[in-house]
Amino acid sequence: PTPDAWRRLDDYLTETLVGHDDALEAAVAAQETAGLPAIEVAPVNGKLLNLLARISGARRVLEIGTLGAYSTIWMARGIPDDGRIVTVEAEPVNAGVARANLDRAGVGEKVEILIGRAADVLPGLEGGEPFDLVFIDADKESNTIYLDWAARLGRPGTVVVVDNIGRGGEVANPATENPQVIGTQRGLELLARDPRFDATALQTLDRKGWDGVAIALVV
Ligand code: DHB
Ligand code: MG
Repeated sequence: PTPDAWRRLDDYLTETLVGHDDALEAAVAAQETAGLPAIEVAPVNGKLLNLLARISGARRVLEIGTLGAYSTIWMARGIPDDGRIVTVEAEPVNAGVARANLDRAGVGEKVEILIGRAADVLPGLEGGEPFDLVFIDADKESNTIYLDWAARLGRPGTVVVVDNIGRGGEVANPATENPQVIGTQRGLELLARDPRFDATALQTLDRKGWDGVAIALVV
């Protein structure tokens, strides 16, 4: 399809099924004003995360890569009032934008932002209650590390979602030298061979372009 046609369909699906939301739109605007990159998930994918939280009955969510908390708000709305999200963000400036966005959206009390590189922060979460849903959307070079932690901090039945598994088709290129793409490939290979996971992946073609999400179950 032409870019026009797929964007028109994304607009149609977003208008029809997702609609408008002041807090989410304010979060995107605040993120832009603060100079953060516009790489939050598309609205249809934010709603997918919200629905996965509800379908799985998630109470405890782990997010790796907060950015401005756009996806965090979507997931926070999909868990019960006593549910909790732990979201890990390496950039303190991003975490500040995220905190304001979460509070404005009225979900601030459900969300703890941990500032630091996830590979350093995640070991500190060991020994807590397991997470029911894990969303991995940070530096792609570390996806295998994050998937290992998702299994360790989850339990059989935990749902794991990995963002950006398509990247305009580049993830299918075995000769790629892009470290983010290589990290994504290694993550998908781990999902395929690691007996702790059963997984699939869906290509997406939305306003963010041609990309995709992997969806896995901890078995
Ligand atoms: C990009 C998009 C993402 O959703 C992300 O998590 C990281 C990078 C990008 O388009 O570069
Ligand atoms: Mg992403």
